[in-house]
Amino acid sequence: MEIRKLTGTVGAEIFGIDVSKPLSSAVLTDVRQALLDHCVIFFRDQQLSMQEHIAFVQQFGEISTSPVYKTLESHPQIMPVIKEATDTGIIGDTWHTDETYQETPPLGSVLYARQVPPFGGDTLWCNLYRAYETLSDSMKTWLDDMWAIHTNEYLTGNIAARNEGRSTKLLETVGVNHVSQPVIRTHEETQRKLLFINRPFTHAFEGMTREESLPLLNYLYDHSTKPENTCRFRWQKGSIAFWDNRCTMHYAINDYPGQRREMHRITIKGVKPR
Ligand code: SIN
Repeated sequence: MEIRKLTGTVGAEIFGIDVSKPLSSAVLTDVRQALLDHCVIFFRDQQLSMQEHIAFVQQFGEISTSPVYKTLESHPQIMPVIKEATDTGIIGDTWHTDETYQETPPLGSVLYARQVPPFGGDTLWCNLYRAYETLSDSMKTWLDDMWAIHTNEYLTGNIAARNEGRSTKLLETVGVNHVSQPVIRTHEETQRKLLFINRPFTHAFEGMTREESLPLLNYLYDHSTKPENTCRFRWQKGSIAFWDNRCTMHYAINDYPGQRREMHRITIKGVKPR
């Protein structure tokens, strides 16, 4: 197995593995370590049936199903992320960490490219450890004991309008959810601290109004997503991105009008952030 870093801060491509087959325990350990080291890892030229995609992901943990988006009837573990050529909208075109409005947001996600547009449709990731580490000591101390309210209202506010012109559909029956999450999270495996807020789902710092919170939140989002703290992945058919949802945000770019893109996403259960 060969690992090639995409940038100095986040992301690495892994070569020499066929993920359609069960991984040996030594390779599994190396892939897990690569995920912890690089926050998002990529595989190229993989040919996976839906069952093989599921089996690959199950080697890393229990699968969780999306609480808000429709999944495949035949394989409810898989969430199709599709933009038809005639669609205008996509999901994920803002910097976010998946499902932080849940008590236990996912550990990670494995996104598999089934059809990619001839241009555009890249995805960006940023490193939330580095976002924390590059704050001033005073800002770190200030944020250290703070909590923030996360909510899914960004998604559920107007489901019908959001589903219009978009093939990745929100469930019509989703209720509103609020949870409190630490602003500075300690990753349960690496024990490193990271900045755990994101634009669509973090509503406000606990004990403060949204208006009071937004100036600092906006500063922290801009700080986290400086180009030097990101990587950009150019998809090909058969590519896989496996991100650690505990320490990254990602952003899907909607820049391929008139083109079709079809991805399959499977998410791994996480634990309560602390
Ligand atoms: C997502 O936010 O999970 C979608 C990412 C993508 O379509 O590249």
